[in-house]
Amino acid sequence: MADIETDVLIIGTGPAGSACAALLATYGIDNMVINRYRWLANTPRAHITNQRTMEVLRDLGRDVEDEAYIFATHQDLMGENVFCTSLAGEEIGRMKSWGRHPLSRAEHQLSSPSHMNDLPQTLMEPLLYKTACSRGTQSRMSTEYISHVQDAKGVTTTCRDRLTGKELTVRSRYLVGADGGNSKVAEDAGLTFEGKMGVGGSMNILFKADLTRYVAHRPSVLYWVVQPGADVGGIGMGLVRMVRPWNEWLIVWGYDINQPAPEVDTAFATKVVRDLVGEPDLPVEIQSVSTWTVNNMYATTMQNGRVFCMGDATHRHPPSNGLGSNTSIQDAFNLAWKLAYVLEGKAGEALLDSYQVERAPIAKQIVTRANKSIEEFGPIFKALGLLDSIDPVKMQQNMDARCDNTSAAEAQRQEIRATIAAKVYEFDAHGVEMNQRYTSNAILSDGQTEPPFEKDAELHYHPTTWPGARLPHAWVFGADGTRVSTLDLCGKGRFTVLTGIGGNGWVEAAKALSAELGIDIRAHVIGPRQEWQDLTGDWAGQREIRDSGLVLVRPDQHVCWRRETLAADPTAELRRALQSVLVL
Ligand code: FDA
Repeated sequence: MADIETDVLIIGTGPAGSACAALLATYGIDNMVINRYRWLANTPRAHITNQRTMEVLRDLGRDVEDEAYIFATHQDLMGENVFCTSLAGEEIGRMKSWGRHPLSRAEHQLSSPSHMNDLPQTLMEPLLYKTACSRGTQSRMSTEYISHVQDAKGVTTTCRDRLTGKELTVRSRYLVGADGGNSKVAEDAGLTFEGKMGVGGSMNILFKADLTRYVAHRPSVLYWVVQPGADVGGIGMGLVRMVRPWNEWLIVWGYDINQPAPEVDTAFATKVVRDLVGEPDLPVEIQSVSTWTVNNMYATTMQNGRVFCMGDATHRHPPSNGLGSNTSIQDAFNLAWKLAYVLEGKAGEALLDSYQVERAPIAKQIVTRANKSIEEFGPIFKALGLLDSIDPVKMQQNMDARCDNTSAAEAQRQEIRATIAAKVYEFDAHGVEMNQRYTSNAILSDGQTEPPFEKDAELHYHPTTWPGARLPHAWVFGADGTRVSTLDLCGKGRFTVLTGIGGNGWVEAAKALSAELGIDIRAHVIGPRQEWQDLTGDWAGQREIRDSGLVLVRPDQHVCWRRETLAADPTAELRRALQSVLVL
C-alpha cells in the first residue's frame, strides 16, 4: 500500500511540471507535483516568452495571462539587439528582434491574440505553480524522486522527504518526469536520446548595476559583446542580458569545454562584468555565479508505458532562440488534455501514444535550431576579421579596417551587415515559434496533403487549418461588439466545432455526440447575424473551408479534422472523426 495516491504524479516544478500541474488541475484531474528543493527557480534562467506560450497561459485563464504581462518586460523594450565592443564602447551593428521590426510586429499581431514578452523564470514559475496549487494540485517541496516501477495499472514511485530523510511511496496512474536536463525519470524509464551533452562551456554571472545610460536609448534584452575570447564556448558571443530594466543583469560568457571549468569567484565575475560593460570602476553587486554546459541532445522517445517525460528532460539545448521554457510549457499543453481524457474514460489509452509522435520531432527541431544559432555567430566574427588572430591588437586592427575608404573595407562593411542580418534566425524566428504541425493518430487528415510553406518556415508563421496545425487566430465579434479570438472559442479542455452559415448540421451533430460520447464539444457558428461575426473577413481568409464546412479543434487548439462543406450525415462523419482522434 502506497503512502499517497494520485492520478498523475509530476516530478519537477519548473515550467514544464508547473504548467502540466496547472493544466491538469484546471481540467479537474487529481494530480500531485514534487520538487527536491524547498522552492522554485532561484535564478532567472529562461526569459523570452513567445506568443504560443502566452496562448497556453490565456487558455488557463485571462487572469493568468494578464498577470504574466504585469510582471513581464514589454515587447517594446525587447528588440534593439545590439552588437558592440562593450556597452560603453563602439556599437558595430544592430538588428530589430523579437517582433520589434514593424513588419515582424505586424506578423505577430496578425497571428495571435497574445504578445511576446520577457518574463524571467523566477516570475513565470510562481505564476504557473500558484495556478496549479490554487486549482487543486497537491504539492510537496523538499521531496526527491528516487525511482519508479510500473505495472499494468499504474506506477509506484519512491521519493525521499529531504526534511526527515524518510522514504515515501506514491501510487499514480501516470508518472510525468519534468525533472530537467539531468532527468533521472528519463534515465530510469529508458528513454532514448540522440546528440551530445557538454559541447561547450559557459558561465552565468547575475548582477545588479544601473546601466540605464548605456541602454535606455536602444532598449533590448540582449547586448552582444565582441571582445577577445568572445567566440570561445558559451552561446556564440559574450552577452549582457537584461533581467529587469535596467538595473538587473545576467552575463553569459563562454569557456573552453576542453579545459576545467574556471573558478568564478566574485573578483573574477566583477572583472568580466566591468570588461563587458566597458566601465573599469562600475559599481557592481554580484548576486550569483554558476557554470553550465551547452548541450545538443533530444529524446527520440518521450514515453515508456505509463511514464512520460517533458521539458528539458527531453530537449537539452542552449538558450539561443529562447526556446527552453516555451517548449517545455507547450509539451505540457500537448500531454495534459490527453491524460485528462484517458483518465476520465473519454479516450482510448492509445491516445497517449500521440504525445511522443507529435512532440519528439519538435524536440529535435528546437535543439537543432538552438545549436545552429550558436554556429551562426561565426560569420560575424569572420567578417570582423577576428578569426585569424588571438592577438587583441591585431584583432582591433582588423575590426578598424572596416572604416577605411577602400573597396575591401566596403566589402567588409557589407559582410558585417549581412552576417548580423542573418541572425534573424535566432532573434526573430517567428515560424519556429508558431508553425508547429503534428501528424499522429490523434489527427485525422483524411488524406489532405500538407500545405507547403510559402515563405521561410523558420521565419514566418503560415496560418492553415490543415489537420495537425494550430488553429489560426482571427478576431470575431459578438452581437454586443465583444471581440474574441478564434483561439478563445476553443481550448479549455474541450473539443470545438467551428462552422458557418449552412453548417447547422454540425452544431446538431456536436450536441448529439456530446451526449453520446460524454465529451464536452462546443460548437460556434461564425457569420452574419450568427453567434460570432467575421466582420473583417480575417477568419474567412484563413479557414480554408466553405461556410457550411467544419473545423474540429482539439483542447490544445490544434485542428484535428476538417470538412470543406456539410456532410450528408454530419453526425456519422463527426462521430467517425472523434472516435478516430480519441482512439475510441
Ligand atoms: P527545469 O530544470 O526548469 O525544472 C526541473 C524541475 O525538476 C525543478 O523543479 C527541479 O528541482 C526538479 N527536479 C529535478 N530532479 C528532481 C528529483 N530527482 N526529484 C524531485 N525534483 C527534481 N532557457 C532559456 O530559454 N533562456 C535562458 O536564458 C536560459 N538560461 C538558463 C540558465 C540556467 C542556469 C539554467 C539551469 C537553465 C537556463 N535555461 C534557459 C533553460 C530553461 O531554464 C529550461 O529550458 C527550463 O527551465 C526547462 O524547464 P523544465 O521544467 O523542463 O526543467
